[in-house]
Amino acid sequence: MEDKKVDIHIEIQVCHGERCQKNLSKYILERAEHTLGVQQGEATKDGILLNNMHCQGKCQQGPNVKIINHTTGNIYLMHKMDPLKMAEAIRHIRTGNIPSHAVLVNVNYREDF
Ligand code: FES
Repeated sequence: MEDKKVDIHIEIQVCHGERCQKNLSKYILERAEHTLGVQQGEATKDGILLNNMHCQGKCQQGPNVKIINHTTGNIYLMHKMDPLKMAEAIRHIRTGNIPSHAVLVNVNYREDF
């Protein structure tokens, strides 16, 4: 079997902080895993990495999901997520778009270093 390194261009992180977990973020992660066909910590062949993340301090707006565009360096947060919204967001991402309800929180994170 050929082991090709995948070029990651999008990273999706589902919050697994305590408050988001109480708001059932595990079902959002499960839907993302099902929709992408990978497990948490793995990447799809088209370069989408699925991860979890620590609390972002936005608990009241949770469950929260972060999108990191490693091509542009932009970081987005999606609030009040649920499994259906997660599947819809992935559909947008796979067509090259950022979901309209995603909030830009950091422009070109690479300039922060
Ligand atoms: S627990 Fe998810 S933002 Fe705080």
